[in-house]
Amino acid sequence: MPIFELPPVTKFGFGTIDTEHVDIADRINACLLAASADETPLDPQLLVALREKMLEHFLSEEALMEGLDFPLLQQHRLQHQKILAVVDRILSGSAASNRVDLETVLVFLDGLIEDVLHADLPFKTYLYERGILQ
Ligand SMILES: [Fe+2]
Ligand SMILES: [Fe+2]
Repeated sequence: MPIFELPPVTKFGFGTIDTEHVDIADRINACLLAASADETPLDPQLLVALREKMLEHFLSEEALMEGLDFPLLQQHRLQHQKILAVVDRILSGSAASNRVDLETVLVFLDGLIEDVLHADLPFKTYLYERGILQ
């Protein structure tokens, strides 16, 4: 049973958004389990890979939005940049101290929650308004 589950309201049923969100959530759950287990240190490369997946997702989402003339694209880009800036700050801190703890993983979880439960929802509304989602 995963520690964090994406709520149904976050499901788009459109493009690759859902599979990308689920992939990120799965990776975060694996890191949360590893960080909670406290037996073996969490491999920092897991978080580096997670950061890459987040960036890939943000770029893919922005390309989709651009193709559909989403009017809030610039604002959405800024929200993605803000999430990555916070993640990068905690990543550089954990690289400096050479340890990855639960708090570090929770920052990634906050970033995912910020994207799926806040930033992305106006795009879903837009897809309904355009009749792309019904
Ligand atoms: Fe997203
Ligand atoms: Fe987003």
